[in-house]
Amino acid sequence: MKNNIILIGFMGVGKGTTARAYSQKYGLFTIDTDDLIESKENRKIKTIFKEDGEKYFRNCEQQCADWIEKCVINSLISCGGGFYNVSNLNRLGTVVLLDASFDWIFHRLSTSENAKAKLKKRPLFSELEKAKALYTQREKSYKKVADVIIDVEDKSIKNIIKEIERRVSL
Ligand code: S3P
Repeated sequence: MKNNIILIGFMGVGKGTTARAYSQKYGLFTIDTDDLIESKENRKIKTIFKEDGEKYFRNCEQQCADWIEKCVINSLISCGGGFYNVSNLNRLGTVVLLDASFDWIFHRLSTSENAKAKLKKRPLFSELEKAKALYTQREKSYKKVADVIIDVEDKSIKNIIKEIERRVSL
């Protein structure tokens, strides 16, 4: 199995924040699947959804997963909230789910700095009720594909990273 850490979880749970803190701690580069897709497409996720629809975006995620499987080793990769659905997820590395309740996630997002921008850039978070339904629909599947589940509610980023390191060896 590949030696990567694959961070999955719902939008706004803190995958990107965790990856950035990990980068800072170790002076290492980390990878973000949304960033890779935006740079390959040369447009924002929001624009991809608007111009070509969700199905096209999911196809981009699969292409991204295929590239990771072929080319990436020894890295921490933070994934978009729907990336858990790619067909080769468990071949990419150890899958770590950052887990929290929907209410905690919504509170985290809406009270963060730049809350408006953070909600706006996520097309699937534009309506609260729909986002909640999506959370409910995915909850079990996230747990099913995860090798390791980390409850991140009310934990500091420092402690989340410690727990990742304790439970996964790169
Ligand atoms: C999505 C989550 C987003 C992004 C896209 C779709 C999803 O990433 O990939 O808007 O389906 O949950 P974040 O989880 O980083 O917000």
